[in-house]
Amino acid sequence: MSVALDIGRYEVKIVHIQKTPKGYALLGYGSEPLVSPDKEYDPEKIKFEQSSAAILRLVDRMKIKPKSLKKLVTNLNNQISNVRQVKLMNTEEEDEMKESLQLEARKHIPMDGSDVTIDFQILGEDPQNPEMVNILLVASTQKNLNRHLENVKQMGFPQGIVDADAVAIANSYLVEHGLPEDGAHVFLNIGSTTSTLVVWGRVAPFFTRDIQIGGHHMTKELVDKRNISYNEAENLKKSSEFNVSQAGVASGAEGSFSIAVAEHTIYDSLVDEIRRSLRFYIKESSESNFHKLFLTGGGARTNGLVEFITEKLNIHTEIYNPIAQLHHDMKDVMEDASKYAIAVGLAIRGELE
Ligand SMILES: Nc1ncnc2c1ncn2[C@@H]1O[C@H](COP(=O)(O)OP(=O)(O)OP(=O)(O)O)[C@@H](O)[C@H]1O
Ligand SMILES: [Mg+2]
Repeated sequence: MSVALDIGRYEVKIVHIQKTPKGYALLGYGSEPLVSPDKEYDPEKIKFEQSSAAILRLVDRMKIKPKSLKKLVTNLNNQISNVRQVKLMNTEEEDEMKESLQLEARKHIPMDGSDVTIDFQILGEDPQNPEMVNILLVASTQKNLNRHLENVKQMGFPQGIVDADAVAIANSYLVEHGLPEDGAHVFLNIGSTTSTLVVWGRVAPFFTRDIQIGGHHMTKELVDKRNISYNEAENLKKSSEFNVSQAGVASGAEGSFSIAVAEHTIYDSLVDEIRRSLRFYIKESSESNFHKLFLTGGGARTNGLVEFITEKLNIHTEIYNPIAQLHHDMKDVMEDASKYAIAVGLAIRGELE
């Protein structure tokens, strides 16, 4: 039985699952905003106390006792972790392997004066070269990891397992569905301040990158373009009135006979960034066969985004519901299931340990 805690900057989420002979069972889930909806949300001003208070409200509502949790899994975001796939000779001993991975990790982690700490998962023999083994390496600095663990402890939780967002996003999908034999899937988790892109296939190497565009920037654009308050913009963005394809059409043009010139929007910028990352990926890996793009995170539900990305990138895009693969007898249909992808991936990781 695992409880996963995704400490997001807009909402904290908890997913409680258990591995059973039939598959993974969902025992509970919930989310709680850091800032109450009647107050203006400003990610720059979020303090640890707000995350911690939101988590305590949530565990209380879910009747979870933090201290008594046997297995807790929490997340490290891409800003304080680095995930990459590396190749090593499969003859290396475990100690040698760890040393090589430490060296590799040091190359990619911006140093903050503390040591690099690593975690890794052996993926298996390299399909193109049986002398090599593929490894998924997660690295962070000791300072960032300690700060995270200290925060978790202050909230009254046991230390538990820590995993990277990017790995959790992939795990939320692949445990049930597996990775494509050839080519790759693309995952995009749209959070509030960043979106995390993950590309992975059975042969195609793991890749992740953060794009500095999230739901907050989408709301901000509406504030500026429509001259409305943040909360009005947030509500409009979540309503059926809004559509990404209309976001760049000047509102003055509606109803008039003038031809509206579509402006470049935040959604165009998001697509540009995805395209840039995929081009980089193609260059590095020679893999250009992207089967599907799965949207997760709270921002995945933005009206018209699926169609917009499908059209602009010519990749079949869909919203991914990570709860659909779990057994449960809950009656209410979860409309906002996509935002639980990281928490589901973390909880599954907990059950694999
Ligand atoms: N129905 C909806 N339509 C459009 N956007 C939505 C909808 N519901 C939520 N969002 C947006 O999703 C974002 C929050 O997503 P999510 O809960 O994944 O973020 P987070 O995990 O808290 O943040 P981060 O990952 O950046 O730390 C907010 O910007 C919110 O406005
Ligand atoms: Mg998030």
